[in-house]
Amino acid sequence: MHTEVLAIDPVHPDPSIIERAAALLRAGEVVVFPTETVYGLGAVALQTGAVERIFAAKGRPFNDPLIVHIAEEDALEQLTSSIPGQAKLLARSFWPGPLTLILPRSPLVPKLVTAGLETVAVRMPRHPVALALIRAAGSPIAAPSANRFMHVSPTTAQHALADLRGRVPLILDGGPCEVGVESTVLDLCSTVPTILRPGGVSLEALRAVLPDVQLPSQLVDAVPTNALQSPGQLLTHYAPAVPLLLFDGSIESMRAAMLAEVQRRVEQGERVGVLVADEDIAAFRESGAVVRSLGDAAAPGQVAAALFASLRALEEADVQVILSRSFDEHGLGLAIHDRLLKAAGGKVFKPPSGPQM
Ligand code: TXA
Ligand code: MG
Repeated sequence: MHTEVLAIDPVHPDPSIIERAAALLRAGEVVVFPTETVYGLGAVALQTGAVERIFAAKGRPFNDPLIVHIAEEDALEQLTSSIPGQAKLLARSFWPGPLTLILPRSPLVPKLVTAGLETVAVRMPRHPVALALIRAAGSPIAAPSANRFMHVSPTTAQHALADLRGRVPLILDGGPCEVGVESTVLDLCSTVPTILRPGGVSLEALRAVLPDVQLPSQLVDAVPTNALQSPGQLLTHYAPAVPLLLFDGSIESMRAAMLAEVQRRVEQGERVGVLVADEDIAAFRESGAVVRSLGDAAAPGQVAAALFASLRALEEADVQVILSRSFDEHGLGLAIHDRLLKAAGGKVFKPPSGPQM
């Protein structure tokens, strides 16, 4: 299959290009499109045959449910069996935007979309291309991130093309994604609203609207930064093609530990990549590593937007291992830490920071 890439204005999308993509979707095909978080691989959510093509193109197992994207809140009536009051409250505050809500599923939603679960994941993206496409298709759109299964999510059309060339007919290229990490997935079907995946809407922002929002125990465990004993379901995604080692601790001890590891590996003839912030660049300049900065460590928005592109860039630089520093876990930082931790298979190296007693 030939994969066509069409450039589209991300702010004022050309209706004729949207219509070409929508016609493919209505015909049961898949289309890659930009959202504010990452690129999505969409198909009409209510057509089982179309949704099957998503799984085929990604090589995704059928036990991993999809997010259904909508352009108006009214579409919830069709997709859910009931709408909790909390959902309306959150929708008012965060939609359109990077928040996915887990809600009771309506029988109209194919089992394939929800992996047989009695719940459905729904989000209203805020990217003008995504919204225009959903409206033109005349149906909610099921869409996972547009990467091959287990690979890093794409934040540019070129990333999606690298993973899906020959497997999808059309990629809409709206430029780089603004947020750069996926949406926050919030379960409203559990007794207490629970974040299943931290993402573009922060825990703090959610708690300002729903004070009882909680993190699942796996994420709570992840925060103190020790090695996780049993990497669970949460740790299976976002694997870069090369192993990643995640370092934590005070800036000085983290840098020193990373530099020592770079030196050890470079001496053995390994090609090493490091993922750092602007403030670390000077320390690594002479290290012999391929250095990639995620920007200002104090600006999590910048770091999140650069993260997946930088992981891919280091892969392309043919490094054999990536050493990454950690970032503060407040706000968007929780999602950044989560993605780095997943890429590291759940393990963190934390050097002792003070003098040892
Ligand atoms: O930002 C995003 O969310 C992007 C863009 C394209 O919208 N999409 C995305 O989709 O990241 P995907 O398929 O890569 O991740 C969907 C996540 C998975 O972790 C999946 O397990 C979870 O949502 N999920 C979907 N339906 C669910 C359900 N019914 N219950 C619990 N988790 C669900
Ligand atoms: Mg994904």
